[in-house]
Amino acid sequence: MSLRLGDIAPNFQVNTTAGQLDFYEYLGDSWGVLFSHPADFTPVCTTELGKTALLQEEFSKRNVKVLAVSVDSIDKHHEWVKDINETQQVTVAFPIIADDNKVVAGLYDMIHPNASETFTVRSLFVIGPDKKVKLIITYPASTGRNFYEVLRVIDSLQLTANYSVATPADWKVGEDVIVVPAISTADAIKKFPKGVKEIKPYLRYTPQPNKD
Ligand code: BEZ
Repeated sequence: MSLRLGDIAPNFQVNTTAGQLDFYEYLGDSWGVLFSHPADFTPVCTTELGKTALLQEEFSKRNVKVLAVSVDSIDKHHEWVKDINETQQVTVAFPIIADDNKVVAGLYDMIHPNASETFTVRSLFVIGPDKKVKLIITYPASTGRNFYEVLRVIDSLQLTANYSVATPADWKVGEDVIVVPAISTADAIKKFPKGVKEIKPYLRYTPQPNKD
């Protein structure tokens, strides 16, 4: 059965471009992004891994460890990383899993046989420090992902994990957030000293609580 939000992310031990790795040990107390791509030496994947490398500092700032996976061999990964670094002008520093035996692909249901019998689709999982799955997105091979959107969702996940708020459509850090329905407006006024704007009894905004 495939993974769902709130499920425990399965642990695994794998060979990667950074050596042997236990997933849980690699994550430690950090957040994690585990993402698959169809194959090495393909154009869209090259840009995706390049963009992730370019955004490495943004992931680190958010205490997020990144881990890529495809069903290619470790030798192929090492060769391909040279191309990514050259063509995308980056240094790929995060590990790429050599999942030639499809262990990770199986655990995370990354092969969708009606799309491809052999290759992983573009799956992406965000995993919290509690090792629970917080986000699942799946893109087809033909569409590269937007890694700024992944960062934006992580900002929302990290905020809403600590405050009784939710984030509206297209929200970005610094913008007003929504008071969760479980809190009455009277309680929200006490809880959020920066103020609560009631548009409807179920639609209340407050400034982002952890931002000056
Ligand atoms: C790519 O990464 O460019 C790609 C991979 C598989 C199918 C189509 C495109």
